[in-house]
Parts: sequence; structure tokens; C-alpha cells
Amino acid sequence: MAEDIRRGLTSTPKDLSPWPKYLYDGEGSRLFEEITRLPEYYQTRTETSILRRRAEEIAARTGCEELVELGSGAAGEKTRLLLDALAARNGGRVRYAPLDVSGSALRKSGERLLREYPGLSIRGFVGDFEGPLGGLLVDDPGTPPRLVAFLGGTIGNFTPRRRLRFLRGLAAGLRPGDALLVGVDLVKDVETLEAAYNDRAGVTARFNRNLLRVINARLGGRFDPRLFEHRAPYVAGKSRVEMWLVSRAAQRVPVESLGISVSFAPGEGMRTEISTKFTPVSARRMLEEAGLRAAGFYTDEDRLFGLLLATPP
Ligand code: SAH
Ligand code: AVI
Repeated sequence: MAEDIRRGLTSTPKDLSPWPKYLYDGEGSRLFEEITRLPEYYQTRTETSILRRRAEEIAARTGCEELVELGSGAAGEKTRLLLDALAARNGGRVRYAPLDVSGSALRKSGERLLREYPGLSIRGFVGDFEGPLGGLLVDDPGTPPRLVAFLGGTIGNFTPRRRLRFLRGLAAGLRPGDALLVGVDLVKDVETLEAAYNDRAGVTARFNRNLLRVINARLGGRFDPRLFEHRAPYVAGKSRVEMWLVSRAAQRVPVESLGISVSFAPGEGMRTEISTKFTPVSARRMLEEAGLRAAGFYTDEDRLFGLLLATPP
């Protein structure tokens, strides 16, 4: 973490967005859950509605018996719709392998699912999905086919280079018979996109500023979150919403573990997250560039959100 944050704080412009995982400490995971329930944040409810209609079809088309979920978070209704669909085809039995960087989210969701599903067995991993996935995607020909789900539009939080590396690694870890299901947020009018990241209740602003608290707690930073303003514009040229924290004043912020003091000019911004929006065409291209085969695209009536189904090369 120290090396990542040092790079981010000393680059021009200051840029922590290549490492969105640091947004998700216990409080960040809790705030994200609150975001998913906001009226402006259409993504979660839309992806859930697509799965409500399509989970059975996806289970039937893929014939998978295990659900592997990357960045599973609170493993809410979307996870349960997929587990239900897989279990229904396998006599009530289903295996679930979630991986998340947030241990607290993983433990809480795992305990709840075990209480709800008598036929469920779980192997949970606390870890980084940009790291090796060998433990999760065991290359053992005896194991049944797996559906790897990467939901929520989290694929949009990668920089383009990291996204390609991640998808290529994933493609290499899949065996014939496995399938990949990726949630992508779709390009739409700027008002809808910007409202989703600038909610009236200010929850996204708290989620954004929480990153400063994480740096303070873990690296001895002295950021005062009140001295930074939340901004989240849609950058059309890059098809993405960018979250920024903009300094309200001239300030120098020591970060003890890094042995540095970071200067901010008044109005100077630091990028904290990118959230890329796709079209059905750009989403398909992304899969194919990584060597995956596009096998299906599911969307809602208003084309707000998409789910891509892919198979290994
Ligand atoms: N899948 C859930 C949560 C999405 S939020 C949904 O669709 O609602 C993004 C999730 O990815 C969070 O739970 C966060 O902790 C996790 N995450 C972010 N970066 C990660 C990384 N590098 N490795 C593993 N998990 C990560
Ligand atoms: C997890 N990820 C897809 C969310 C998004 O919309 O990019 C994270 C988020 N950031 C601000 N609000 C939600």
C-alpha cells in the first residue's frame, strides 16, 4: 500500500484511482452498501432486475455447478439469484467461492449465506483480484464447471491497461466449460451518470473522503477530510465518471510512514476513482481483446446496465 499511495500522491496530477481497493476498508464497504440503496444509484437495482429475469437462463446455458465471485462485497440479492439458479439445476447443492479485499464484508456475507442455504459449501478468499487467482480457480480437471461472476460494474474501476491484464489473467485461469459473467455500466445521458455519483444525501462524498481516513489510519497521514471537496464529473472523451477530491485551501499534508509531506494548491484536485461506462460494442471489444469469446449480452428495457457472458478461448 505504501508504494501505491506514494506513487499516487507524487504523480501529476495526484492520482490514487489505479488502486480503488483502498476505498474499501470496513467503513468504505459499509458506505458502498449505502450507495447501492440510493435513489440516484440505478446500477445495483438494475443489475438485480436483469438477473431476476435471466439468472435461470444463464445457469441453463452455462451448466455450471460452482459460483466464483470476484469483488463479492456484501454478496446480496444478485449473488443469491445466481446461487438459486445454479442450485435449482443441481438438486439444491451448490458451491460458492467469493473473493474480496474486504475481510469484514466477506465474513458477514458468508455467515449469512450458510444460514440460508443448507446445500451450500463456501471457500472464501480475502485477497486482491489483481493478484494470482490460482487458489480460487484451481486447475483441477476433476472439478465441475464454474461460473465466474464479476458484478456491479467493478470492471469499470480499472485503468484500461490494468483491465486488459486482469481479463487476460482471468482468461488464462478458465477451463473449457467455465463461463464468465461481467456487469458493465452503460453510456447514457450525462445527467443520470453524474447524479449517480453526486447524490443528494452526500453518501458518495463520504465514500470518497473516507479514502483520506484510510491513508491516515494505515500510513500515518494527517489529511483533514473537511478540507477536500467531492467532485465527480463525467469525462465524455474517456467514457468515464471520475471521482476527485479538490483541496479547499493551500495545505501541506504529512504522511508519516512515507516520510513525505504533500503540498496542495487551493483548487488542486486528486483523482480517487474512475468508473468507465461501456457500449455493447466497446464491452464486446474489451472481452475479445483479452482473448475471451462473447457469448451473450443481457440488458434492461432502458439499456442502463449490461451483463456480458463470455467463455474461455
Ligand atoms: N459485487 C458487489 C460489490 C461491488 S463494490 C456488487 O455488485 O454490489 C466493489 C467490491 O470489490 C468491493 O466489495 C471491494 O471490497 C472489492 N474490491 C475492490 N478492489 C478489489 C481488489 N483489488 N481485490 C479484491 N476485491 C476488491
Ligand atoms: C464498485 N463500483 C462499480 C462503483 C462504481 O459505480 O464505480 C463504486 C462507486 N464509486 C462511487 N460510487 C460507487
